[in-house]
Amino acid sequence: MLKAIIFDLDGVICSTDEYHYLAWKAMADDLGVYFDRTINNRLRGVSRMASLDIVLERYEGPALSEERKLSLAAQKNELYRSLLARMSPEDLSDEVKTTLAALRARGLKLAIGSSSKNTPFILSRLGLGDYFDAISDGNNIVRSKPDPEVFLRAAEYLGEAPSDCLVVEDAVSGAEAGHRGGFQVACVGDASLAGAGDWNLTSFSALLQVAESFDCPPAATAKPAGVAANPYLPL
Ligand code: BG6
Ligand code: MG
Repeated sequence: MLKAIIFDLDGVICSTDEYHYLAWKAMADDLGVYFDRTINNRLRGVSRMASLDIVLERYEGPALSEERKLSLAAQKNELYRSLLARMSPEDLSDEVKTTLAALRARGLKLAIGSSSKNTPFILSRLGLGDYFDAISDGNNIVRSKPDPEVFLRAAEYLGEAPSDCLVVEDAVSGAEAGHRGGFQVACVGDASLAGAGDWNLTSFSALLQVAESFDCPPAATAKPAGVAANPYLPL
């Protein structure tokens, strides 16, 4: 039975890719390291320090101490937060807003499961500071996706079993985290194109159909053996 939905934040509820790109690019330029949007795409769903390691793959200078790495990550985050500060409730799309409201109206609990330590700031910029029933983020976990910790914590905060929760993700590592935690997973964006979910959606609002499918008798929703349900992927 579906009782709750746990949403990843970046790339699912809102789009922060460009801000991440601009902030990492400025830091990389300062350090003289090549960085582009293709590398930026690899940072989706990856924690801040693990992202820094990916950015530094092209670094050829003298070895960097842990302290220096922390200061580079802090430099990136400072610029990133100054860009996030430009966000407002207008950056929340009507589609996301109305879909969240419709899911809640069905009696579902709604939570956030994000690797970002900036989750509270982003939610407050979007006007969603008090909206979710639970928030699990980069501030309460020690292991990043694809480890399931962030989603398991969200389910615990909600008081629901993972098997009764649906995870919504845009990153393949996040979809893997959901599956490893025993959750069903609906994907949008990159993860959907990669077919990483049990449902691979072409729109956020298609979540309403996913939620409805849980109300149907099992025979009507049974997946053919070995084939993941994939009703929303474009042909
Ligand atoms: C994830 C993003 O949600 O949060 C990643 O997809 C990001 O790109 C990670 O690196 C950590 O974010 P933050 O805000 O804690 O630096
Ligand atoms: Mg994401």
